[in-house]
Amino acid sequence: LARGVREPDLTGRHVVISAGGTREPLDPVRFLGNRSSGKQGYALARTAAARGARVTLIAANTTALPDPAGVDLVPVGTAVQLREAVLKAAADADAVVMAAAVADFRPAVYAAGKIKKRDGQDPEPISLVRNPDILAEISRDRARPGQVVVGFAAETDDVLANGRAKLRRKGCDLLVVNEVGESKTFGEAESEAVVLGADGSETPVPFGPKEVLSDTVWDLVTDRFSGASA
Ligand code: CTP
Ligand code: CA
Repeated sequence: LARGVREPDLTGRHVVISAGGTREPLDPVRFLGNRSSGKQGYALARTAAARGARVTLIAANTTALPDPAGVDLVPVGTAVQLREAVLKAAADADAVVMAAAVADFRPAVYAAGKIKKRDGQDPEPISLVRNPDILAEISRDRARPGQVVVGFAAETDDVLANGRAKLRRKGCDLLVVNEVGESKTFGEAESEAVVLGADGSETPVPFGPKEVLSDTVWDLVTDRFSGASA
């Protein structure tokens, strides 16, 4: 095969990918959000489709990106909506990859009307509550035996130690750890990462296009399929 051309080794597989970043509304015009562009999740979707998979892409606030061809796209806004969509799609999935940046907290109260400032009054503090941990939940309650679950983590310090601890905490099979800093990774077309396996494996991925990291993820996922029936 020519370089860059892959065997359709995901044919007959259903993969679910979350992408983008959740937005947690405060009122009808404001939200708490994050800087995730969705590019990594979209690259995972394109590469999986190119390798023959049926792809469900749960996309949180990714309207700036073009819809990938041949992919079932499910748009969502909040972490709670993302959880519903992922759990539904995961029911018959061979692999679930959580590339979305899920807000850890959401405002405790949603104001049905726009929050107004008042002369001479200090702003009200914003109370937050925890969002569900979707990756931990799908890792714990595998919807089918042998389902492979992959998480992503962006870390700024002690990248490998934090990644190892997070992999164990989440209970997933693979965790892609990105080192982030000023202008690194978020919104960029290229990334540098290491993929940690629950089996102790460590796969470094050099700085390069998100498609290359995506194909490495699918290689590691298909390794974990082998032995299981298609
Ligand atoms: N994740 C999730 N649900 C959440 C938070 C995170 O499914 N409520 C998933 C993300 O999609 C990602 C992985 O968990 O695949 C790691 O996210 P990260 O924010 O690094 O993990 P946290 O446990 O939230 O750790 P931290 O306190 O460092 O933010
Ligand atoms: Ca988090």
